[in-house]
Amino acid sequence: MTDNNDTIDALSHENRTFAPPAAFVAQAHVTDDSLHSAARADLESFWATQASKLISWQQPWDTVLEWDLPYAKWFVGGKLNVAENCLDRHVQAGFGDKVAIYWEGEPGDTRVITYAELLAEVERFSNVLKGLGVRKGDRINIYMPMVPEAAVAMLACARIGAPHSVVFGGFSSQSLVDRINDAEAKVLITADGGYRRGEVFPLKPAADEAVAQTPSIEHVVVVKRGNNDVTMVEGRDHWYHELMADAAPSCPPESMDSEDLLFLLYTSGTTGKPKGIMHTTGGYLTHVAYTHRNVFDLHRDRDVYWCTADVGWITGHSYIVYGPLANGATQVMYEGVPNYPGNDRFWAIVEKYRVTIFYTAPTAIRTFMKWGADEPSKHDLSSLRLLGTVGEPINPEAWMWYHENIGGGRCPIVDTWWQTETGGIMISPLPGYTTTKPGSATFPLPGVNIAVVDDAGQEVEHGGGYLTLTQPWPGMLRGIWGDPQRFVDTYWSRFEGSYFAGDGARLDDDGYLWLLGRVDDVMNVSGHRISTTEVESALVSHPAVAEAAVVGANDATTGQAIFAYVTLRGGQDVDVSTLRDHVATEIGAIAKPKAIFFTPDLPKTRSGKIMRRLLRDVAEGRNLGDTTTLADASVVDELQRRAAETSSED
Ligand code: WTA
Repeated sequence: MTDNNDTIDALSHENRTFAPPAAFVAQAHVTDDSLHSAARADLESFWATQASKLISWQQPWDTVLEWDLPYAKWFVGGKLNVAENCLDRHVQAGFGDKVAIYWEGEPGDTRVITYAELLAEVERFSNVLKGLGVRKGDRINIYMPMVPEAAVAMLACARIGAPHSVVFGGFSSQSLVDRINDAEAKVLITADGGYRRGEVFPLKPAADEAVAQTPSIEHVVVVKRGNNDVTMVEGRDHWYHELMADAAPSCPPESMDSEDLLFLLYTSGTTGKPKGIMHTTGGYLTHVAYTHRNVFDLHRDRDVYWCTADVGWITGHSYIVYGPLANGATQVMYEGVPNYPGNDRFWAIVEKYRVTIFYTAPTAIRTFMKWGADEPSKHDLSSLRLLGTVGEPINPEAWMWYHENIGGGRCPIVDTWWQTETGGIMISPLPGYTTTKPGSATFPLPGVNIAVVDDAGQEVEHGGGYLTLTQPWPGMLRGIWGDPQRFVDTYWSRFEGSYFAGDGARLDDDGYLWLLGRVDDVMNVSGHRISTTEVESALVSHPAVAEAAVVGANDATTGQAIFAYVTLRGGQDVDVSTLRDHVATEIGAIAKPKAIFFTPDLPKTRSGKIMRRLLRDVAEGRNLGDTTTLADASVVDELQRRAAETSSED
């Protein structure tokens, strides 16, 4: 990584720091080093303390951790039920009337669901599943819009010990087929359709197409949401509301082993076949409850928490369903897009529900920047006290914009690094304790051990390298469903004894961590390694630029050349040479993009990640493969047209 270190050292350093505001510290759960020092003193007893403090166990564990690299077992011998932890115990403690979910449909319809109501719904639906023949250990697929029934379905699965596999509602039917068949799921829970950008998007037809190719599915349960026409297959398909009307009201929670499978969640790897990431019960719940409480400083008596993710992603699993509900939080759940009916929808929701904690993705923040600060300023956002981000590195300019225009300068920002595989947050500020730097995820959480290493696996004290996790943690993946060898090869082979996350990272002079994106997004230009993220950050730091995506495209002379795709802020104009010079000023001449394309939009997956592979293909004039995971495929046509125009101008 020598080249990389040289390059990285030459990069502009972020010198602004933000200490936790006194008013925040005065009420925060964590304001000192005590969690860190407890974890350093004894990792196992640290996690055991969290598990007994935050979770109710039907039977205590015998052994905190069995670590047979790369296989971990946490809280071995312990028994618990996740749904009981998320629902029953709060109701029993007198919080039955507390709001669990303020649900807001995209058209503006709303539902308010208390903990007692959510429990009743989950118990009934657990009986529905049992009535369809579902038994402990059977896998259930869930393919739903963002409606409360998605959470009900997940919790009912957890209650009866049937692992769920949620597939994001924006995925194609082919993606659903692959995931159902890999998990050999018995029941599919879906909906007629859901609302998106003012229209109903149908789900049931895609589910029907899929089920034609999934021999394991015996029953399909359909939630009525879109009121769109659907075909129901006699004996196989059932309306949710009809089954619920006939279901018995009470269903005791199954006693689950701490290491029983809680869910599978499929995520893409470097090959075409998605990996079924396995998460189990006791360790996972401990990890998400602990991080949700301490990273978001949750005070359940007064906070209104809102995570804008979809339940189809790990963020929705850990920080909409399991973490917040385990902690008895009151939260907002929103069905639709941020720009319906107007670009201020999110801010209208924050104002309406007096949201105090808001968790979203950097790509959303950059979109908000593009729409302009006038949108949030139409609303009273004074209820907000903490902001979070997840999913990709946040460039300092987006961080500052978020801080000033959404947080009103008073809210700490937690930039949280983690993965589907880690189950919960691993690297993040503790908002009442950590001094933040815009763009840095700062430090590993107490209980998490990392090392930044070079190509040879040697720890790097300062500068760039690969992010590895050096000790087991409770929320860690337990395997890849049906493919133990891939589990070992993907995560545990690159650096001996450590988990390799696939991300590059840099440690600055003060020991702060800067996540540099996936290592496969690192370019090599004339023998210099340059992070796409750093070039993007440089581009976005220009006042005219809203968003930028950078890829390394093959180049006969320099190995790779930097291609940049840029969207401008509303009403702004700038020419290519000015932007190239700007990057040179920010990073150095080696980082100057060879070509810059202006585009009204960037191609993104439905979870908001920029599809760099596709941009590389456009840059290299290649035929584009499968684009079904794109949020908006027309963006690609536009990009190709512009790229062709530019090359004919050359
Ligand atoms: C990236 C999402 C920088 C990273 C929870 C990781 C981040 C991948 C951050 C996992 C962050 C996530 N800063 N990069 N705060 N958070 N990433 O599995 O590359 O959808 O490996 O999990 O997102 O994506 P996944």
